[in-house]
Amino acid sequence: MQFYIKTFGCQMNEHDSEIIAGILESAGYQAASDLDEADVIVVNTCCIRESAENKIWGYIGNLKACKYKKPGVILAAVGCMMQQNTIDELLHRQGKHLDIILGTYQQHRLPEYIARILAGEKQIVDISEDNHDFPDALPSRRVSRFAAQVNIIYGCNNFCSYCIVPYVRGRERSRDFSAIMAELQSLASDGVKEVMLLGQNVNSYGKDWRRQGDLHAPDFAAVLQAASQVAGIERIRYMSSHPRDFSAELVDKISELPKVRDYYHLPLQSGCDKILKAMNRGYNTGDYMSILDKIRQKTPGAAITTDLIVGFPGETEEDFQQTLDYVARCRFDAAYTFIYSPRSGTPAVSLAEQVPLAVKKERLQRLTVLQNQISLELNQAYIGRKVAVLVEGLSKNNADFYTGRTASNKIVIFRGRPEQVGTIIDLTVSGAKTWHLESL
Ligand code: 5AD
Ligand code: SF4
Repeated sequence: MQFYIKTFGCQMNEHDSEIIAGILESAGYQAASDLDEADVIVVNTCCIRESAENKIWGYIGNLKACKYKKPGVILAAVGCMMQQNTIDELLHRQGKHLDIILGTYQQHRLPEYIARILAGEKQIVDISEDNHDFPDALPSRRVSRFAAQVNIIYGCNNFCSYCIVPYVRGRERSRDFSAIMAELQSLASDGVKEVMLLGQNVNSYGKDWRRQGDLHAPDFAAVLQAASQVAGIERIRYMSSHPRDFSAELVDKISELPKVRDYYHLPLQSGCDKILKAMNRGYNTGDYMSILDKIRQKTPGAAITTDLIVGFPGETEEDFQQTLDYVARCRFDAAYTFIYSPRSGTPAVSLAEQVPLAVKKERLQRLTVLQNQISLELNQAYIGRKVAVLVEGLSKNNADFYTGRTASNKIVIFRGRPEQVGTIIDLTVSGAKTWHLESL
């Protein structure tokens, strides 16, 4: 039997899909090269914004055609969107043709459920949050040979007022320290050069154990320090971190770790204190600026990127202007910018003063213009500099070129050779665009 996985959403989901592929392969399935070949189609879903959900329902709707073409095909939808408590009603309306629906806690059960469908059972829905038997070391089929993702903490306790994640991914659960280290060792012996440590809020690592009284439980800095000791792994990244938990002490520790220190992703969300408070972010623009100052003082060459949301309920033109001014001061290397999307069940949905879509779009546009200009200027400052690039492969946009990344996570386009893939090479930057550097 062959399987096909379609993934929507963030890096957590991409990695979950690698694990789902690994589980299915261990159960004797093979990866299909395209949808029409597959006997089992898995859609890994995301619900962070309405736009994602609309796209996914469209995709799921189109899968009906697969059932007509190949009546025995098994359709499974898994992940965040399926974990929402409104799912029953939605499935009734748009998902009757799905055979298996699994939330974020039960994906490892997929082979068992496929077997039950093959034995004649009708639609199975399992969105139970009971995960006491969740296996820690699941097989995974990695997309890349030399870059890998490693879970370190699951769930989120922050309840930012706009965010659905704590409702669909549950409370913070740190992954066993020695299991993480064993995975890193095994990746290194497979030739992996770069790891991305994953969690909704990696800074919280170990807090759950400390809350339960284990005062010596390792923290996030300990994970970074131990990961840095793993020979063969040259670069360590993490996603996502929370500015509230990013202490000066953590920056000090990171500045001692050459494999880690050149890149920070620090989601700001808004540059207006009133909005940050309404978002329940737990820091203000002054706190945030002190972290930026600290990072720039300790590692002047580090790149810093962020996430920003425009049009949060109650955001006035003056508030938005504060964000623009603040972003101009922060000078981020890049920003992932989003239009606020009301998510049912989150506190922000019921706030009065929702911002009209046209206003949100117009703000996004202005923010993008500003940020693109800053990104370009910061990239231009690289021209003439030598950078160490981990070569990823052929560029997706132009097969004449190769693509790779600097330690500061900048994409570099260059003329490469197949044997360079997976190695770190020195290049001199000759050109700069908004989203990438060139060495031509
Ligand atoms: N609307 C818009 N953007 C959101 N994000 C999270 N929830 C929402 C929402 N309801 C953004 C945040 C977060 C990123 C992963 O997605 O900026 O950092
Ligand atoms: Fe969502 Fe906030 Fe948790 Fe990030 S920290 S997943 S934005 S609730």
